[in-house]
Amino acid sequence: MAATPPLSIEDRIRALLGAMTLDEKVGQLWLRQGDGGTVSDALRSAIRGGRVGGILNEVDPEVTRELQRLATEESRLGIPLLVGRDVVHGFETVFPIPLGLAATWNPDLVESCSRVAAEEAAACGVNWTFAPMIDIGRDPRWGRIAETFGEDPVLTGTLAAASIRGFQGETLADPDSLAACAKHFAGYGASEGGRDYNSTPLTERELRAVHFPPFRASVEAGVASIMPSFSDVDGIPATANPFLLRQVLREEWGFDGLVASDWNAVIELSVHGLTEGDREAAREAALAGTDMEMASHAYTDHFQSLLEAGEISEAHVDEMVSNVLRLKLRLGLFDHPQHREQIRGGPRLDLAQEAAVQSLVLLRNEHDTLPLNRERIRTLAVIGPLADEPYEQLGTWVFDGDPEKSQTPLQSLRQTLGDTTVVRYARGVETTRSLGRDGFADAVEAAQAADVALLFVGEESILSGEAHCRAELELPGAQAALIDAVERTGTPIVLVVLAGRPLALTDVLSRADAVLYAWHPGTMAGPAITDVLLGDQAPSGRLPVTFPKSAGQIPVYHAHKNTGRPPTPETVISIGDIPVAAPQTSVGNTSFYLDAGAEPLFPFGFGLSYTRFEYRDVRVSPEAVPLGGTVTVRATVQNVGAVEAEEVVQLYVRDPVASATQPVRQLRGFQRVRLASGESREVAFTLHTDDLAIVDRDMRWTTEPGTFFVGIGGDSRAPLAARFEVTG
Ligand code: BGC
Repeated sequence: MAATPPLSIEDRIRALLGAMTLDEKVGQLWLRQGDGGTVSDALRSAIRGGRVGGILNEVDPEVTRELQRLATEESRLGIPLLVGRDVVHGFETVFPIPLGLAATWNPDLVESCSRVAAEEAAACGVNWTFAPMIDIGRDPRWGRIAETFGEDPVLTGTLAAASIRGFQGETLADPDSLAACAKHFAGYGASEGGRDYNSTPLTERELRAVHFPPFRASVEAGVASIMPSFSDVDGIPATANPFLLRQVLREEWGFDGLVASDWNAVIELSVHGLTEGDREAAREAALAGTDMEMASHAYTDHFQSLLEAGEISEAHVDEMVSNVLRLKLRLGLFDHPQHREQIRGGPRLDLAQEAAVQSLVLLRNEHDTLPLNRERIRTLAVIGPLADEPYEQLGTWVFDGDPEKSQTPLQSLRQTLGDTTVVRYARGVETTRSLGRDGFADAVEAAQAADVALLFVGEESILSGEAHCRAELELPGAQAALIDAVERTGTPIVLVVLAGRPLALTDVLSRADAVLYAWHPGTMAGPAITDVLLGDQAPSGRLPVTFPKSAGQIPVYHAHKNTGRPPTPETVISIGDIPVAAPQTSVGNTSFYLDAGAEPLFPFGFGLSYTRFEYRDVRVSPEAVPLGGTVTVRATVQNVGAVEAEEVVQLYVRDPVASATQPVRQLRGFQRVRLASGESREVAFTLHTDDLAIVDRDMRWTTEPGTFFVGIGGDSRAPLAARFEVTG
């Protein structure tokens, strides 16, 4: 007799739905906050009664084991629980914040970090992470820019897919895999004024062209779940937005995973002013396509009444429940609800160090101040509030990070230089925010006695992340004054900036001989920074986001539109250039600021090395390609300096004439290459004409025939000197 084939996931969903009561169905739609390391009687009875679909923020392995045991052994149908947690940039081992990871421009590395995070979290019973966060971050005032992969849709989409592969492993059913959750769909990064939770009055074109692509890439990478954003998207909050959740996500992209709300976002629909009360909020969110409700319980409270009144159909509820069950089945939770006892895995601290090294961006290096020559430096001053802060170097979203594991820059420098160099430490200011100057004298004394002063400045962890936005972007507290005081000693200054966002360093830049931007590098900040400062590794991070001169210059990003009056070097004047009582004229005027010009402080893609790379022979073949064909763009890149180093080669494309205006340039590809001193290499990028698609006048992704300009270089200023034609 032939063996019965195993039931498909869809068959199993149907069988379960057939056996479930309405209460049990609605229970699956609630993602309940855990009890914080214990299991209360109320939670116990809710799980036994099938009234909970998932738990978030419970990571004690004993507790998660007990929760799953209750669900699978003591509830009527034995349906396991989703166990969710924000595993954002590591679990116990903390990697750089996502913005720092993005500065590596290294998808393989990002994938490995997510893999390690998944293994560590899965060993505690977590099976679902609310990551990656793939909102486009173009406003450094927004605290959550720290969680983004920066300003660019292609870089973000590529790293999103890599991170999802890392979290989800080869198959979701592997006990070491976490279901990923791409968030926050969509446009959250455009919060007005960079103020968190603020409205996002985005046009459909802007959504489709800029904010959707990373989500699309995530769906293509098989992301298990999606979280709608908190925000009001052009009048319809995302949690109740059928255009986003039904039309685009399900119908256009064919997503068949789970849509889970953000924290209390369902009941906040009434605070937004979209609905009156929780019952209506539940109805609107459910009908729009939010399957599961996080934290609040409007679904469990009101679905019975909504069904009775015919405002929601049971078929609709079944569809929502199916999306929850499908994820549980894909995760294999029915077959192995319990986690492994042991973490499986390879090197963790090594990986954390490598990720931190590659995330460091050298912004300035006058007179080759870096790398430090350890033979010549007898005394090194280590100054600043972030030189020795095991917790602050970890960054935002590190619920499970262990500061005890952190290796700080001061510790590493002492360890590495101990025998040859005197390391003098002076904190200078208590915290990054302190205004007190009592510590200045010590710092000045340390600098006076030193050959070089390293200043570890920036922002503590809590100054970025959710709800921690700033209106100004300078170094907070008395740090700029501390830099001034140290500068007066005449000792060369190296700034190492740890921060969760781009800071406007305009005023302090010229006071420093070198500036290394370190973001929040995580557990291995110390060894990574030490390696780069001492030249054991050349810096190879590149900015994933444009650095503004001041907050007033925001938004400033590389893929902006041309406008009808683009600035040119001849037209950009400064406020002092205008003659007194000058008459008004519109002739020759262009788009720039009188007090900040047209250029940012540092462009997207920028980063120095200890060597220099030269680009030549940028060429395209063929020079004309029909729709559906491919072109290859090539360049020769050479390391013309003395040390081996890695370069991030970037490809930019411009579609200069289209049915809807396009940015002046867009990143279309990148590669990290390692080149020995003197070595040249040909790099090639193959572009399919689909890669040149734009959101056309009718909101469709289309490649329009015509001329395209291309360039390859080391940052977003690469000249677009080559061209090709796409023929119809
Ligand atoms: C954040 C989400 C996060 C959730 C659960 C919310 O406040 O917006 O990104 O996943 O909390 O912690």
